[in-house]
Amino acid sequence: MKSKKNILCIGAGYVGGPSMAMIAYKCPDYRITVVDINSDRIDAWNSEELPIYEPGLDKIVKKTRGRNLFFKKDIENQIKENDIIFVSVHTPTKTYGAGADMAADLQYWEKTARQILKYSRSSKIVIEKSTLPVKTALAMEKILSSAKGKFRFEVLSNPEFMAEGTAISDLENPDRVLIGSHQTKSGLKARAELIKIYSRWILKEKIITSNIWSSELSKLVANAFLAQRVSSINSISALCEKTDADISEVAEAVGMDSRIGNKFLKAGIGFGGSCFKKDILNLVYLCRYYGLKEVASYWENVVKINEYQQERFVANILNGMFGTLAGKKICILGFAFKADTGDTRESPAIYISQKLLAEHAELIISDPKALKNAAADLSGIKGKVKYIEDPYEAASGCHALLILTDWDLYMNLDFRKIYKTMVKPAFIFDGRNIIDHKKCFSIGFNVYPIGKPALSHFKI
Ligand code: UDX
Ligand code: ADP
Repeated sequence: MKSKKNILCIGAGYVGGPSMAMIAYKCPDYRITVVDINSDRIDAWNSEELPIYEPGLDKIVKKTRGRNLFFKKDIENQIKENDIIFVSVHTPTKTYGAGADMAADLQYWEKTARQILKYSRSSKIVIEKSTLPVKTALAMEKILSSAKGKFRFEVLSNPEFMAEGTAISDLENPDRVLIGSHQTKSGLKARAELIKIYSRWILKEKIITSNIWSSELSKLVANAFLAQRVSSINSISALCEKTDADISEVAEAVGMDSRIGNKFLKAGIGFGGSCFKKDILNLVYLCRYYGLKEVASYWENVVKINEYQQERFVANILNGMFGTLAGKKICILGFAFKADTGDTRESPAIYISQKLLAEHAELIISDPKALKNAAADLSGIKGKVKYIEDPYEAASGCHALLILTDWDLYMNLDFRKIYKTMVKPAFIFDGRNIIDHKKCFSIGFNVYPIGKPALSHFKI
């Protein structure tokens, strides 16, 4: 079939890969090419084992790869040949210089803009898909407009709202698609091109438009609001542990208010993932830059509560296990930042593991998809760590189990069988509140949930 349009995506990561696979799947007459500077990543996208685990992704890639979805390494050529370019390179938090630990590090993104400028031989629509600070599109335009009148580059902002673990269903059926553009003739024309793509499978009413800066800011704010809900419920879980109230009951009662809603009210060990912390710090930096120090500190506290929740969890383990972890074997069930992904970026499990190792505990880490990343995250950190995928084998001979990721698999474990193989007294610290606490207590475990009274066999 002859392709009507060619689309390029620069950056074959968690956002670029799945979102382009979905466009290719829904628009068979478009030819989509994804490029990356990391050639191992491109090899992996072209292999049987994709570089990221995402339920349903394999199926879509198998249907489209080689048909109208291509993963390639020749970035320069691809820039020349494609008229619509999505930019989906990562924007980590800066670790150096001005704005260190807060502002977004825009070096990858700027390199991309310069590459587009250098290799373009025709006018293009350039679409920002990474989360970027407000006014980044403007900076991108400034770089691209140095093309000196030869070609025009129309920059659009089209933030991606999908969440990992549910990326395919989020992409297939999003709450909304947001497209920010200039309100000029060429801006509106470029916007119409993008709407044409999404309207192949998404209802027109769900495709909303705005100016570029509203679009950029909306992504930061959506993530900040979501993270704020997690920190809000986690802050209350600390109070529940002091008062014998139960966080699940409180969350249910609060969430049934239709003005509040029941989603994103699960207390746990805090949020992880590549977006929340980075985007909030970005928002905080922006507010400070504009002199809004009260607003900045309001949002900064969402991150502080998240750190506090992880510190609290470790303190509970230490207190529960008689104030010492030295030489004790601790089995960590789940290292990914959430279920259904192998991604461990900013996973609370990293911080918790480091703290436990600093207490001289021995760690046995188990996860169905994240062990490779876990090993990379903990490499170079002093202490004894083993990686064992089978949870029963991992737990055997341990003093405590920590549930750090909400994998379904852990809800259905045979805890009686596990208990028999553990050192007594045996402990469970359920950092996600996903298992049957009463049942585990009756088996013999001392059970420490989040935001609920501990179930302990000790009399004092
Ligand atoms: C998030 C946004 O949801 C998504 O819209 C955006 O595009 C990218 O960032 P993601 O980080 O992939 O997606 O996952 P998400 O489901 O938002 O979870 C983030 C973290 O919050 C996880 O660590 C999760 O375990 C935690 N969380 C979430 C809770 O602790 N409690 C909840 O109730 C919900
Ligand atoms: P995200 O979760 O935002 O998708 P990832 O780190 O998973 O972030 O993906 C970003 C990808 O962008 C990485 O694979 C990285 O190699 C790629 N990348 C960064 N800079 C460039 C560039 N200048 N050209 C092409 N690819 C790039």
